[in-house]
Amino acid sequence: MQKARSLWQSNLGFLLAAIGSAIGLGNIWRFSYMAHEYGGGAFLVPYLVALAVAGIPIILLEYGIGHREKGASPLAFARLHPRFELLGWWMPVVAMFGIMLYYSVVIGWCVNYFFHSFTLAWGSDPQNFFFSDFLQISSSPAELGGFRQPILLATVLVWASCWFICYRDIRHGIEVAAKVFMPLLLLLTAIIVFWTLQLEGAWVGIRDHYLTADWDKINFLAADPEARTAAARVWTAAFGQIFFTLSLGFGIMITYASYLPTKTNLARNALITTGVNCGYSIFAGLAVFGIVGFTAASQGVAFDEAIMGGPQLAFVVYPQAISLLPDFNSLFGALFFLVLIIAGLTSGVSLIEAFSCALTDKFNWRRKKVVTVLCLLGVMGSLIFTSRAGLYLLDITDHFITNYGLVLGGLLQCLIIGWYVGPEKLRRHISKLGSSVPKVWNFFIRYLTPLILLILLLVAARGDLAANYGEYGTSHLLIYGVGWLLFCLMIALFFTLRPWLAARIKHKHRYGDEDLLV
Ligand code: PHE
Repeated sequence: MQKARSLWQSNLGFLLAAIGSAIGLGNIWRFSYMAHEYGGGAFLVPYLVALAVAGIPIILLEYGIGHREKGASPLAFARLHPRFELLGWWMPVVAMFGIMLYYSVVIGWCVNYFFHSFTLAWGSDPQNFFFSDFLQISSSPAELGGFRQPILLATVLVWASCWFICYRDIRHGIEVAAKVFMPLLLLLTAIIVFWTLQLEGAWVGIRDHYLTADWDKINFLAADPEARTAAARVWTAAFGQIFFTLSLGFGIMITYASYLPTKTNLARNALITTGVNCGYSIFAGLAVFGIVGFTAASQGVAFDEAIMGGPQLAFVVYPQAISLLPDFNSLFGALFFLVLIIAGLTSGVSLIEAFSCALTDKFNWRRKKVVTVLCLLGVMGSLIFTSRAGLYLLDITDHFITNYGLVLGGLLQCLIIGWYVGPEKLRRHISKLGSSVPKVWNFFIRYLTPLILLILLLVAARGDLAANYGEYGTSHLLIYGVGWLLFCLMIALFFTLRPWLAARIKHKHRYGDEDLLV
């Protein structure tokens, strides 16, 4: 017998959880580094365009599907048509096995650095500390070199915390955590931003590198073909970032929306979620550009020399700056890493939730059991990223999962709604619930958004075929990149082929104009 679906206690609880999923490690260092690399303030143009043409339309689509079909993505898509179930599994499998396995390890690094802040353990050479002392990085992805115990311990702690939050039902677990963590996160972030703004050189860094635009970098109509290619890369990066930052293409927003009560203003919720998430990124960018400006000024070096990309921004540039602060260094460091931990945890639980809800929907298994088993499997899966080659492996996996896994999920969703179900049905469903969605949304979902996503896939594939990503060896890219994607596909296929244990695939809509069932 099907149990009644548990619901959010309040719309605010839902919003905080959805925003919690969206705001994560990606908003702080990924966004800032991209903004720097891709034209400072000018990066905001492709970013906001991507938000308008892909972010908002797809989040509306995900909210709409989840709310209307009342299920995590496999159930929701199976209700549209059983043959779409595979896509429904693909997304949460990628979330759980593609992203969460390494995302939890990065949160584990933050936990370590939180403690290191108290003693400023990185000393005078944070770069060397990060690579040699902390990661003890091996010389190539082939050499796993055993586990790094502190990272392993912290990763176990992260999984245990996620387990603790996800274990209870949605309103007593994730919702309560979101209500505690999100206000705290916003408060701590505000403290860090205002603290940073007081530092010498911070404002110069922000003014000259964040508020100043290098328009050439985004001009994809430039006469010079090289500049054109570079600009195209900026645009694709902006779209990738929007997907990642809004947690789209994972089935997360579908799952979260499936717990909403019948009467809910989905369109307004979509605007609030995207607005707060992107506003947060832009706001947090002030802290990052400010701190780099401060470091550059205190060391008398150029801004470009003081900033570094990828994980180094949080784990090398920040520690450096923390050591240079005039006072309360440890407090600042602890606050910064705490912000990362909180942001990461509220995203991590959403990755687990999308998959565990998918399983309980299909097999009627008990939630507590599912979450416990998943978290245990998760810890084991994460082990490989806690090895000495972890950084290489997560870099490769991340590249392939974000560039192909997510975008593919987004593209197929648009095609199914755009061409099979018909966007107008979903648009009317959403509009009837409150704020209306303009008709142009249909055009986006049917043509514009999938077209752009297809271009993204092609650009990424062309780049990867032309040169090995990150100069890694082909066999490593095949194993940890392509192989990882195939592994996710196999798991998705496995679950798709199992029979439904609860006859839940049939679903009578209590409202809505047409029945989408076959
Ligand atoms: N949106 C999160 C971030 O910006 C990451 C994330 C991706 C979370 C996918 C859940 C799912 O860091």
